[in-house]
Amino acid sequence: MKRTARYRTSALFYDLISAEWPVYRAGRVAAIDLLELQPGEHVLDVGCGTGLNFSHLQRRIGPDGSITGIDTSAHMLAQARRRTHSAGWDNVRLIEADGTDLDPANLRAGRRFDAAISTYVLSLMPAWPRAIATMIELTRPGGRVAVVDMQRPVGRAAAWTPLARLACLLGGSDIEAHPWKMIDSVLSDVHVASARGGHIQIRVGSVGGTSGCGTDPSNGMGHPDA
Ligand SMILES: C[S@@+](CC[C@H](N)C(=O)[O-])C[C@H]1O[C@@H](n2cnc3c(N)ncnc32)[C@H](O)[C@@H]1O
Repeated sequence: MKRTARYRTSALFYDLISAEWPVYRAGRVAAIDLLELQPGEHVLDVGCGTGLNFSHLQRRIGPDGSITGIDTSAHMLAQARRRTHSAGWDNVRLIEADGTDLDPANLRAGRRFDAAISTYVLSLMPAWPRAIATMIELTRPGGRVAVVDMQRPVGRAAAWTPLARLACLLGGSDIEAHPWKMIDSVLSDVHVASARGGHIQIRVGSVGGTSGCGTDPSNGMGHPDA
């Protein structure tokens, strides 16, 4: 498993320095709204970090649902664990694992999730198509998959591009990766949203068929710009 030292110190301050309230919260809120989670549903959060998605997910799934958060950073997971304990959630499972190399048996005893989400993670990994394919494979037919990631702002907001580039550079993201385009290609009933002048792109789609639809990781590559 790939381990990352990137968050060794910054994990402690991540929630404060990640521009959550002015910029990035909007993306997770929109995605989780579009997931239309129901009480009792089970959600996989790939690259959960410090768990900033958790309270939004909990409000919808309630105590009968569950969150499985996976992340390569033990330091980020430690913050997620702290958040979980202080909120008193006993339905959160945190696993140190790589989103591109997940063992289903290690997650819900091989059972699929009702939904999977990944926020501001995929553009950090060169192998993001594999991570999205895995999210789809691990979600039941009819379940939903949400991807939130970043691109250069567009239109009048393009003036903010240097700042957006800097934020991505500091965070280690490839602002040109555009991983959500694979969702456009391989899932059905795709909901499209964006925030902050197009900088934040949100896609939520439904898994079709019997084992996900089109989980070939090459799908979606070369799709035209959103
Ligand atoms: C920018 S943070 C985003 C955290 C969280 N999803 C959020 O919305 O705040 C990126 C996270 O992705 C994790 N990560 C990076 N590559 C990963 C991989 N291959 N598998 C799982 N997690 C990964 C990092 O450790 C980090 O916690």
